Amino acid sequence: MAGASELLAGLAVPVMLVRPDGGIAMVNMAAEAALNMGQAALAERGWQAAFGGDETVATLVARARRDGSGCAAYDVMLKPLNGRPIRADVLVNPVAEMEGWLTVALQMRAVTTMVDRQVQQLGAARSAEGVAQMLAHEIKNPLSGIKGAAQLLASGESDAADRAELTGLIVAEVDRIAKLVDRLESFTDTRPIRLRPINMHELLGHVRRVAETGFAQALAIRESYDPSLPMVPANRDALVQVFLNLLKNAAEAAGEGGELRISTAYRPGLKVRPADGGAPVSLPFEVRVCDNGPGVPLALADYVFEPFVTSKPGGSGLGLALVAKIIADHGGVIEYERSGEPAWTVFRVLLPVAEGEAA
Ligand SMILES: Nc1ncnc2c1ncn2[C@@H]1O[C@H](COP(=O)(O)OP(=O)(O)OP(=O)(O)O)[C@@H](O)[C@H]1O
Ligand SMILES: [Mg+2]
Repeated sequence: MAGASELLAGLAVPVMLVRPDGGIAMVNMAAEAALNMGQAALAERGWQAAFGGDETVATLVARARRDGSGCAAYDVMLKPLNGRPIRADVLVNPVAEMEGWLTVALQMRAVTTMVDRQVQQLGAARSAEGVAQMLAHEIKNPLSGIKGAAQLLASGESDAADRAELTGLIVAEVDRIAKLVDRLESFTDTRPIRLRPINMHELLGHVRRVAETGFAQALAIRESYDPSLPMVPANRDALVQVFLNLLKNAAEAAGEGGELRISTAYRPGLKVRPADGGAPVSLPFEVRVCDNGPGVPLALADYVFEPFVTSKPGGSGLGLALVAKIIADHGGVIEYERSGEPAWTVFRVLLPVAEGEAA
């Protein structure tokens, strides 16, 4: 068995070797770290010690033993007795030429750094199914603004100036949906998106009006803008999506009568070191979308930017995944935090300066 243990030890993926009787024979270092338990304790005490009452892995192992073939469960939430919850694909496979022996590998999904997480989302966002769901999701947000504007027009209470603004809003949002559908291909495309200098405050003003005629009718939105903010290299339509999603989540969290805040800041000195240890990048443009709701449920806080993570009945959990994808495409980062006293919910977007100007 010495050969097998050396082989396992070197793998970065947590792997457990299972005896023909279903017990744990051996685990590698990555598995010890993920489960926060030593190999001796795991081998002696088995699945109950590793995962407590959670029977996902033990069930898969029993099934693979019964069928004599591999089996897997994708994207399951494992709860190690001693460690942090793990989102992983569990792959159980027979070991060649060792009758009755199995390996259990955990392909981790919950990555620990923001940058990795955002890279990972690209994969999910670009799967065919993911694309279809994401588009459907993205078309619903502007539709709510269009419907609201049309209802205001139909009520006959608007004057000529209001009517011009409302029809302008309808046209702009319809155009955006049309472009979004055109961009279907861009989700499966790894080419960089085209960035042009845009006026962030004009963009945020537009987003705010869409929100106010649609999903944020019953809330107060306050703005606080840094007048020194220069033009931002960005894809306007994509950023409209980003801030609509953030405002919609904020509106849903704060509820009727709640407060939302949008603020900008320009900090030329701000540098962020990527999780891979590469050179620090300058991310001086900051936009914060804040609400006075209760914040992200604790259990979800580490996963909100991953696709299909939702606490809402009928939610798709794609809003923030899409936001993270777009921000990553811009070379930026997004963070969630609770701050202030009393605490507010803060989603902070940091964006880079145009290439060549990063000095
Ligand atoms: N401002 C916020 N306050 C509290 N929780 C939030 C906030 N924004 C996001 N969340 C949490 O993150 C989860 C994921 O958000 P996301 O936008 O990705 O999906 P969703 O809002 O649930 O669904 P959809 O966007 O499809 O309507 C939400 O279900 C919610 O639990
Ligand atoms: Mg959402």
